[in-house]
Amino acid sequence: MSATFLELSAVSKRFSPRLSLGERIAAALGGDVETRTVHAVDGVSLTIKAGEALGLVGESGCGKTTLGRIAAGSMAPSEGIVRLDGVPVIGPGPHPRKLTTRIQTVFQDPFASLDPRMRIGDIIAEGPIAHGLVSKDAAAALVGEWLGRVGLDPSFASRYPHMFSGGQRQRVAIARALAMKPDILVCDEPVASLDVSIQAQIVNLFLQLRRELGLTMLFISHDLGVVRHICDRVAIMYLGRIVEIGAAEAIYGDPRHPYTRALLDSVPKLVIEDGTNVVFKPIQGELPSPLSPPRGCHFHPRCPIAMDRCRGEIPALKASGTQSAACHLAPT
Ligand SMILES: Nc1ncnc2c1ncn2[C@@H]1O[C@H](COP(=O)(O)OP(=O)(O)O)[C@@H](O)[C@H]1O
Ligand SMILES: [Mg+2]
Repeated sequence: MSATFLELSAVSKRFSPRLSLGERIAAALGGDVETRTVHAVDGVSLTIKAGEALGLVGESGCGKTTLGRIAAGSMAPSEGIVRLDGVPVIGPGPHPRKLTTRIQTVFQDPFASLDPRMRIGDIIAEGPIAHGLVSKDAAAALVGEWLGRVGLDPSFASRYPHMFSGGQRQRVAIARALAMKPDILVCDEPVASLDVSIQAQIVNLFLQLRRELGLTMLFISHDLGVVRHICDRVAIMYLGRIVEIGAAEAIYGDPRHPYTRALLDSVPKLVIEDGTNVVFKPIQGELPSPLSPPRGCHFHPRCPIAMDRCRGEIPALKASGTQSAACHLAPT
């Protein structure tokens, strides 16, 4: 196994609101215009080792897609740096440019991510030909091989995306990414838009590809259940920060952060108690706006065990065994 790994060091991303001319004039005149910055990602550091799948889990709006785009080198962070094999991939700058093809991405929406005017074979072969990984003559064999690996018939190469279901399109998107022979695959909610039965098939495909190819992955999902099947390690994100990270067995078996515990409790499960169906216990409250995050620990307004210290002091990630939690009350 190569020593390739992805390292994010103190990565932050802020989005400033884009104001219209009218809003800028109103703001200059002291009018009531929203000019606050969104802190989408706030000082995240993490590493992914070769052959490892790291799951990134959190509620919608907590910054997962933004962090995934920075990790994939397709968005510049406001601060911090991403390194692949120790070599900087992307850092802060006005003109973010993807500097590497060694990281490929699979997105949530298989309907939006494939060009409807291109045949499936051309969609898969385009990148490898453009980057000199395969000659035009050898491209058909490469396409056939990858269609087979993702469970599609090689004869589908001449078809167009509209002729496929959502699950089949996601298989094509996975083939397109893997045909580039990436060192790391970043998957952003790749099963979220699919029916539950199709989700299971695509989760099984990822498991099979991991076994066959030793894939290294950053696997983003709001669904702890999906991540549990696929990932060795899991990072829990809340309002731009990683609040807990560690080996999957530790995170699921012995969660240390109250937010991780709340997320695990809110996974829908059918428990029969005294003849009553206890369906699920949603997390109390809503994710606060990233425009005005709570001081101290971002989770304190929803935390059942918050103390005064949590309202003023940001907890650092503290390691204990195979996991780290950012909670003043976490055991060390
Ligand atoms: N291009 C953008 N411009 C302004 N705000 C953005 C942009 N992209 C994301 N955001 C904001 O950043 C926060 C995190 O978004 P996102 O990374 O998409 O979260 P997630 O993928 O976890 O749902 C949200 O509040 C979102 O509205
Ligand atoms: Mg997202």
